[in-house]
Parts: sequence; structure tokens; C-alpha cells
Amino acid sequence: MKEYRQAQVNYSRLAAQAEALLSGESNRVSNAANLSALLFQELPCVNWVGFYFLENDSLVLGPFQGRPACVRIQVGQGVCGTAALSESVLRVANVQDFDGHIACDTGSEAEIVIPLIKDGVLIGVLDIDSPRRDRFSAADEAGLVRLADVYLQSII
Ligand code: SME
Repeated sequence: MKEYRQAQVNYSRLAAQAEALLSGESNRVSNAANLSALLFQELPCVNWVGFYFLENDSLVLGPFQGRPACVRIQVGQGVCGTAALSESVLRVANVQDFDGHIACDTGSEAEIVIPLIKDGVLIGVLDIDSPRRDRFSAADEAGLVRLADVYLQSII
């Protein structure tokens, strides 16, 4: 099997691609759809990339790539809801070790959730799953926060 190296993602290049893809459009659903497709194509070893948007006390499924997923997650529940509640990035090396993890795809082993905060207000989360434990490094986190920011800058 080809050796997997976390350093292989060029996040500067990916951020430039995302900027080009999202520029000129400010619709949050359209841009979430295109960004999830870009990330699903370009990130190695991921099985789910998608958005949940905040509605009252729930995160509601938005555009995504991967297997069908749970539609509503209460803020405070699962990895997504915990990241939303704390408004901080959650990087989970092994989802089985995360109490309350919601298994949408049983193939998911690792997960990263980036809260989306626009003008100081939480609007949702970007969620990425991997079938490989410990898939997401600190460098991935920094790169994905940057990509989430490209998305946040693009929308109204
Ligand atoms: N695992 C997430 C649920 C969403 S799916 O991974 C697409 C969670 O625990 O919040």
C-alpha cells in the first residue's frame, strides 16, 4: 500500500483554488456545495466532507460529499455539536474514544470539525471524516481553518 504522508496536502494551493472557485458568488449553500466537493476531491483519505448550518439549537445538514448523514444534531451533542457549543475546532484522532460521537458512516475513524463564525456569530460547522485514525494533524487543522475562512469571506 502506498505510504500515506500527511505533508502531501498543499493548503496554500488549495486555498487559492477555493478562492477562485467561490469568488463572485455569495450564496452560502452554493459555496458550501462547491467547497465540500473541492475538499472531497483534493484531500487524501477522507470519506465525508460537509456542512451543518445552525438553526435554533440544532445543526442541520447542508451540502456534503460522502454517504448519507444524520440531518439534525443538537448543539452540545456529538463531535459537531460539541465543537459548535465550544466554538472551537475539535480534532478527534479516534472517534471511538469520543464519548457521544454520532456514527453516520461506520467507516469513519477520525474526524475534524471547524466551527464557522461569521462576524462573531456561529452559523454552522464544517465537518470532515476519515477512515484513517489520527488522520488530521495540527497542519491539517491550520489549513482547514484557512479554507473555512475562505468560505466565510465569500458568503453574505
Ligand atoms: N460524527 C458526527 C456526526 C456527523 S457525521 O460524521 C457526517 C458527530 O459526532 O457529530
